[in-house]
Amino acid sequence: MRITGWLIGALAVFSIVVSGSAQNQEPSIEAEVRASFERSEAAGDFADKFYAIFLNKSPEIALLFAQTDFERQRRLLRTTVYIMVTQDLDDPTARETLERIGRSHGRSELNIRPELYDLWLDSICETVKDLDPEWTPETERFWRERMAPGITLITSLY
Ligand code: HEM
Repeated sequence: MRITGWLIGALAVFSIVVSGSAQNQEPSIEAEVRASFERSEAAGDFADKFYAIFLNKSPEIALLFAQTDFERQRRLLRTTVYIMVTQDLDDPTARETLERIGRSHGRSELNIRPELYDLWLDSICETVKDLDPEWTPETERFWRERMAPGITLITSLY
């Protein structure tokens, strides 16, 4: 009986320590970026704002999108950014999606020069800065960090 009481006490202390340390943890970058994406989408049309900014970055980009159906394109961008925000590259579906984009954007198809991805990421960051009411410089840092592995994967297939 005494041992049982001691065990219960030890377990209680252990669970308080564990839950306490979990609460003290910084929210992950994934959680920060996901929350920022959700706030941005609640504040306006993320994909619409993104393309307004991105197409203005250079005449080369505007030309590449001259024939584009933007209703479809905005939907595809939103879905892909959501995947890049919420999934790590060890998720097979996320990886396959980004590899497919890597192939379609490669030399033999859309032929998107890897340098243009800097402008893509700048445009994502400007979109977030415009829309996210809780934006800080740290928000931008988190977004850049979160998008980097996906961009590296896509451009590695150029
Ligand atoms: C991580 C960055 C990027 C992502 C996630 C992305 C995503 C996509 C997706 C999902 C599509 C739809 C077709 C497909 O699945 O291949 C697409 C099409 C396209 N993307 Fe990207 N893209 C990125 C970067 C860029 C960059 C830097 C450019 C340079 C201008 C670009 C230009 C295009 C063009 C021209 C199309 C075809 C539009 C059409 O159908 O008319 N993309 N992109």
